[in-house]
Amino acid sequence: MSVIKEPQARFLRACNRLPVDRTPVWFMRQAGRYMAEYRAIRAEHSLLEICRQPELAVEVTLQPVHSLGVDAAILFADILLPLIPLGVDLAFIKDEGPVISNPVRSRADVEALHPVEVEAELAYVLEAIRILRGELPDSVPLIGFAGAPFTVGCYLIEGGGSRTFAQAKSLMYSDPDTWHALMQRLSKLITDYLLAQIQAGVQAVQLFDSWVGALHPEDYREYVLPHSEQIFQALSETGVPTIHFGTATATLLSLMKEAGGDVIGVDWRMPLDLARRQLGKDVAVQGNLDPTALFAPRPTLERHVDRVLEAAGNKPGHIFNLGHGILPTTPVENVRAVVEMVHAKTAVKSVEPSRG
Ligand code: CP3
Repeated sequence: MSVIKEPQARFLRACNRLPVDRTPVWFMRQAGRYMAEYRAIRAEHSLLEICRQPELAVEVTLQPVHSLGVDAAILFADILLPLIPLGVDLAFIKDEGPVISNPVRSRADVEALHPVEVEAELAYVLEAIRILRGELPDSVPLIGFAGAPFTVGCYLIEGGGSRTFAQAKSLMYSDPDTWHALMQRLSKLITDYLLAQIQAGVQAVQLFDSWVGALHPEDYREYVLPHSEQIFQALSETGVPTIHFGTATATLLSLMKEAGGDVIGVDWRMPLDLARRQLGKDVAVQGNLDPTALFAPRPTLERHVDRVLEAAGNKPGHIFNLGHGILPTTPVENVRAVVEMVHAKTAVKSVEPSRG
């Protein structure tokens, strides 16, 4: 006899659009330089060392869980890690961010990418997940993640960050066959990587398409949607909730939904009620406090929190988060205050909230 059990953790309930006792909160980039505990580890180890030593990745993942009281943990890793076994020479340079010294610019470059055995070559990520599942309480689910093919492909083609994505988009427009071949390689790698994370124990996954807002909707449909869709289709067979996140996506939300995701992550430029109008009722939403509101005086911060909660409305299927990652100089006490505000303002007195 199989009994389908409803998840208990409020984060997983919200992913499934079930009623919750309080709106769940977590933050993109909740582990990082704004925390003294992170800086202490970072003073001794590079970012890649932290990612590659499971005990360190576990410790850093748990820091915000202990310090902030968030409702989910996100595995400490980076969207660019899966590029390393492809043969990409990746470094994180202080004040510059990621730099790739052998960017992909041609069909020959795509074909030279190495085949990847995720279980072996990204074993350190999977090991961190297994340890974390033993350490986290059931009330704090573990989120795994990967970058989406477009966003990861942009770093790979540009050789680092970019404002315009001129190199990536010119490859996309001038040599669509090579573009699609690269997106295919990345979709396969990202699918394998996320499935391995799920097998290792993550309880939800987020696909970060952080820079997809650089695209016109028709270009999104032609050059990106089929590849992201393939990833979500493979994941849907696992039953693990999926979150699809991007920024500057006001004109892309319905297409992102079409590509997939049980939850759509929305940035701060787009009020959640407007987002929901585009998205319809059959997905949950995540977001979307402006990360810079965390620098505001407390009453202003509180107004911004209220604005997000009011736009989300008193309906199931909202996960409180920022509209993008926490900035490195954010005061940690303000982050903690947001967790407390959201929990206090959304607390449901009755244990049996009405459904409907
Ligand atoms: O959210 C978390 O707490 C988990 C850890 C996490 C990191 N990167 C660690 C990290 C996550 C989810 C990411 C995702 C990521 N990485 C994205 C998508 C999210 C987003 O912000 O849009 C992107 C685009 C990257 C690529 C990347 N990694 C950049 C552009 C940079 C440099 C910018 C910066 O903030 O320094 C990184 C480095 C990085 N990844 C840091 C952290 C904590 C800072 C590194 C440090 O300690 O020096």
